[in-house]
Amino acid sequence: MPLLKVVDRDGKEHDINAPAGGVLMEPLRDMDDGVTAICGGMCSCATCHVYVDPAWVDKLPKPMSDELDMVRDLTAHQPNSRLSCQIHLTEALSGLKVTIAPEE
Ligand code: FES
Repeated sequence: MPLLKVVDRDGKEHDINAPAGGVLMEPLRDMDDGVTAICGGMCSCATCHVYVDPAWVDKLPKPMSDELDMVRDLTAHQPNSRLSCQIHLTEALSGLKVTIAPEE
């Protein structure tokens, strides 16, 4: 069960256990003031936007072109932007740190 470190929009860090086999968006959606994930993980809303800690960016599988297109259109886009619904949780991602991006 990966342990995630999640910084919320108030800058507070949370340790969250999440099952491997799911996607990162799911535990973030369950948080108070977490992501809204309106499309339910279909890569079509970008309301699950997060910033991946720089130490983890290269450890994640690269985004597909549809994810890249979505995040590049966001006002709050940064080089480490990802859509959390496109990040599949594995044991290897234990310790992954992300920050929830501002709502748009
Ligand atoms: S939940 Fe809609 S794009 Fe991720």
